[in-house]
Amino acid sequence: MNTERPVILKLGGSAITDKTGELAAKTEVINRLAEEIKRADLDNLIIVHGGGSFGHPTAAKYGIKDGYKEDPAQKIGFAETHHVMTVLNGLVMDALIWHEIPAVSVAPSSCMVTENGKVKYFDETVFKSMAKLVFTPVMYGDAVLDEKLGFTILSGDQLVAYLAIKYNAKKIVIGTDTDGLFDSDPKTNPNAKPYKHLTLKELKEIQPKLGKATGTDVTGGMASKIAELIPAIEQGTHVTITGATKGLSIYRALTDQSILGTEIEKA
Ligand SMILES: Nc1ncnc2c1ncn2[C@@H]1O[C@H](COP(=O)(O)OP(=O)(O)OP(=O)(O)O)[C@@H](O)[C@H]1O
Ligand SMILES: [Mg+2]
Repeated sequence: MNTERPVILKLGGSAITDKTGELAAKTEVINRLAEEIKRADLDNLIIVHGGGSFGHPTAAKYGIKDGYKEDPAQKIGFAETHHVMTVLNGLVMDALIWHEIPAVSVAPSSCMVTENGKVKYFDETVFKSMAKLVFTPVMYGDAVLDEKLGFTILSGDQLVAYLAIKYNAKKIVIGTDTDGLFDSDPKTNPNAKPYKHLTLKELKEIQPKLGKATGTDVTGGMASKIAELIPAIEQGTHVTITGATKGLSIYRALTDQSILGTEIEKA
């Protein structure tokens, strides 16, 4: 049985897929990440992955995030968004299990309901038992039912923060396709400067300057990611944002070693 505070790892859709394409998985990155996760050998790890070029374009096409507008095509869109996420999840699960990680997929759409886009219900019975037995639960950004909107998109970023707060996570590791957080989007500004360390107060000060995403992101890219993470940092969870597309950053972050990226803590 596991009593340690969990570590929550987000495999960003920007890292595991090509967000400028459609249904474009980076299988070599996914495989290397599985290898790094295996090597880190954490007992109390929860993995969440993002939608990348699987969930986001489909969700955008049918306006799933804004809810059901009585358009029957949206019902197919909801089903398709969830389905393409299970396809990406399958690729992630393949790599994790191939590397002998006892990972089990948990679909948010089957155990969570939101209200105006925020998680309202979470039937955690299975999830909790899984963690107790030292399985590694794997969740992902998903199309979910919403009490006010009919349905919406629950982002991987919100899931990470929600689980961190609920289970008092020791640490959140966010893997993206940039080496951490910069003073502006490094993809569009070659002079963007990286932040190595930020306190919560400093993070809140730079928040208005943060950009969105490259490619389609229905849940708001970097700016929304930070907004979602703030309550978890307030609670005392340490956040590391690092590049997941290059070798060993995720392994190093999971094993508390220094990384190329941004460390964020409450004070
Ligand atoms: N100040 C910033 N620092 C770093 N990246 C930024 C910044 N502003 C905007 N970005 C963009 O944010 C992107 C990461 O956010 P995005 O939501 O696209 O990725 P993700 O969360 O990994 O993907 P997904 O939502 O599919 O999981 C980067 O690719 C970068 O272009
Ligand atoms: Mg995103």
